[in-house]
Amino acid sequence: MCNIDFEQYFANNRHWAETVLAGNMDYFLEIKEGQQPKALLLGCSDSRVSPATVLVTGLGDLFIHRNIANVVSHSDLNFLSVMQYAVESLKVRDIIVYGHYGCGGVRAAYENKSNGLIDNWLANIKDVMRHHKSELLDIENEDERLEKLVELNVLEQIENIKQTSIYKDAMDHGLKIRLHAWVFDISTGLVLDLKKKYNIQPALT
Ligand code: CO
Repeated sequence: MCNIDFEQYFANNRHWAETVLAGNMDYFLEIKEGQQPKALLLGCSDSRVSPATVLVTGLGDLFIHRNIANVVSHSDLNFLSVMQYAVESLKVRDIIVYGHYGCGGVRAAYENKSNGLIDNWLANIKDVMRHHKSELLDIENEDERLEKLVELNVLEQIENIKQTSIYKDAMDHGLKIRLHAWVFDISTGLVLDLKKKYNIQPALT
């Protein structure tokens, strides 16, 4: 494990702020006024999948929540609060579930070893495995099976979003929430849209 040079982080930060100001000296005054993010993104906490870096977004573009394996749990007040604030206060109308191949959380659920407390969280993914058991068993190659599980997990979390009171309230009020199922491929750096990959029509909403 290498030592972390935190001083370098602060130096990087100062350089970044100077560069931003050089492009627009009012930038920070402008973003101080408030946020109007384009979308809510639910991603994995994995340090390699940083959505803002991968999607090259600016400050204020994405309202982001991250947890292990990008799970929507109906007892998770943290995510539900984020979603409610995004939809009801920030008027966000697009929600992206952003999974990634090579997800350690998905793999841990798949391997079904004992990992302590986290097993309670990973049970959400074991549910996904149970719902899609035959489809997964049809895939002989284990890496491919795990990739499929990552994709199914993203699609399943979309279904979980649809079951939230927040989504249902929005629908009842005639608000159209567009749901997006994306997977980041850490072996290529590319983000895949599962709706396009599997020609899922109409839109997931
Ligand atoms: Co992950």
